[in-house]
Amino acid sequence: MTTRTRFPSRWQDGILVLGAAVVLCASNVTVAADKTSESLAVTQSRFGKTPQGQAVERYHLTNRNGMSVDIITYGARVQAIELPDKNGKIADIALGFDDVQGYIDHADTYFGATIGRYGNRIAGGQFRLDGETYQLPQNDGPNTLHGGTQGFDKAVWAASPIETDRAVGVELTHVSPDGDMGFPGELAVTLRYTLDNDNDLRIHYSAVADQDTVINLTNHTYFNLAGAGNGTILDQVAMINADRFTPVDETLIPTGELADVAGTPMDFRTPTAIGKNIHADNQQLDYAEPKQGGYDFNWVLDTRGNLDDLAVRVSDPQSGRTVEMYTTEPGVQFYTSNFLTGSFTGKGGKTYDHWGGFTLEAQHYPDTPNQPDFPSTTLEAGDKYSQTTVYKFLPE
Ligand code: GAL
Repeated sequence: MTTRTRFPSRWQDGILVLGAAVVLCASNVTVAADKTSESLAVTQSRFGKTPQGQAVERYHLTNRNGMSVDIITYGARVQAIELPDKNGKIADIALGFDDVQGYIDHADTYFGATIGRYGNRIAGGQFRLDGETYQLPQNDGPNTLHGGTQGFDKAVWAASPIETDRAVGVELTHVSPDGDMGFPGELAVTLRYTLDNDNDLRIHYSAVADQDTVINLTNHTYFNLAGAGNGTILDQVAMINADRFTPVDETLIPTGELADVAGTPMDFRTPTAIGKNIHADNQQLDYAEPKQGGYDFNWVLDTRGNLDDLAVRVSDPQSGRTVEMYTTEPGVQFYTSNFLTGSFTGKGGKTYDHWGGFTLEAQHYPDTPNQPDFPSTTLEAGDKYSQTTVYKFLPE
């Protein structure tokens, strides 16, 4: 049973509607947004619960271009991104699961997750700060990966909807206690995801700690512009605005060098198919994935923190779908899902192949707490951490 109605911006039955024509379904809380007007809407629904019984909510953001983004409070994750192709055919381009259990069973994928307190690796799970040595859980060989065994990806975040003049979204908050995963100080984090009618998915992070600490937040969405579960990303074409990258050792810890991409498979300064050089005989590609190779490196962005400058663009020539990344961060981890093997089922019963997605993780460089020459990741007590990263999707 549906009723069509028109009403000004306000909350109604858990739906935030911006002066748009909507279709309300009586049985469940859904909105079909009017594509012709300023129709932006955010809908809240129950996604599921954790094994401990904590409720997990989903926020569904829609715009007038037929694009939608789903955010779940488990790990403050991007659970889905629906985007039309050049012919208007909609596909979900984000890898993920239909339920909380999927995210728990395949936690090591970090699908869509907010990563904290420290994105990527810290060598030996150790760092020194203010004369003290801090030991973190070693959950990736000898190193700490993505904040340790119970990182921000496993927290259920508190959430509330956002409505501004030009965007809808969700604000998520999480307080990490002093000593959480070995990191010093209580850290309070606020994260805002917003979607607008320019197809910009904007992520703004802020955080404050009551002691000096280190922080490196990022988002771990895997994109496949042909549609999640629809083959590999090898024919998709990437441009990374970076002259240099941070080479790694065999445990994927940076050597400290900033190496030129020129003459290496890491050169994406001009648009290049992701698969073009992925099979090259190159020690770095072997370190990233010993059997078949792959990309899993931090590029040193030439955007120098300028949010107006294009950092990365990836396009799918077939569908015409494109994602661009803009960020205040100095680096990006471009990872080609080298550890996926098609061995489990994701959303809608689809499987995800080796090289079935790529991540664009805006970040400070891996292992910065042990690399004095890298841009600092120290957050002093009472200072504000701030990051903005925008994923812009085309066609609009
Ligand atoms: C990436 C990381 C990869 C892998 C992946 C999660 O950010 O660089 O090495 O750990 O996360 O599976």
